[in-house]
Amino acid sequence: MSELEPRRHAQRSKHLAAGFSMTHVIKSEIHVSDAIRLLKKRLSQFSQTKTEIHLDQWFNYLAFDIIGEVLFSKSFGFLEAVDADTAHLRHYARRYRDSTEESRGPQRRAIGVDEAAREESGNFSEKELYGCVNMTVGAGADTVSASIQSFFYHIMRHPRIQKTVRKEIKDAGLTDDVISYADAANLPFLQACVSAQHGL
Ligand code: HEM
Repeated sequence: MSELEPRRHAQRSKHLAAGFSMTHVIKSEIHVSDAIRLLKKRLSQFSQTKTEIHLDQWFNYLAFDIIGEVLFSKSFGFLEAVDADTAHLRHYARRYRDSTEESRGPQRRAIGVDEAAREESGNFSEKELYGCVNMTVGAGADTVSASIQSFFYHIMRHPRIQKTVRKEIKDAGLTDDVISYADAANLPFLQACVSAQHGL
């Protein structure tokens, strides 16, 4: 992202491109669904105790936990630790290295050094890799959080639209408590609402 020279930009992207393919990212779906399930649990708890919360903060926790799963095969644990603070974030680059030994599935990591590409360019150091990891956490978490916040803000502000979305989901007769990526792709009205967040 920070490399302005087109040739070097293309060269560096080669190290990371495979991790961003849909076939790779979709491997994390089951863990992303777990994170959504945990958020739903937290929201029901708040609702039962009638505790006021800032939804944007909780969407932030969700987004960071999802990025943790996708990049490191390991959630940051924000949704788990109810009083999460930013200490979780301080050493996330190091998590990349640690995740090699302790992750549930190292092959799910989005960012990995492609050895063939490394040989070709010969200049992708561990320091650069950490830089990319830091950048991707920032690029991924804020965008995902902002998108979710925008989606729910508009859906709450427009009850008529919300009713149509709910009806479409109900009529689809889905049984899982979290809608899968494949099932969501077959809900055109919902897809239109999601795309609207990105001005598409
Ligand atoms: C709603 C979600 C997102 C939006 C709207 C978004 C938008 C963008 C845009 C507009 C760019 C600049 C593209 C360009 O220079 O031509 C970009 C670049 C980038 N985004 Fe995202 N993004 C999103 C989610 C993510 C996620 C989830 C990740 C990672 C997990 C990510 C990682 C990156 C990276 C690494 C780049 C730099 C690519 C490069 O320079 O080659 N983004 N994004």
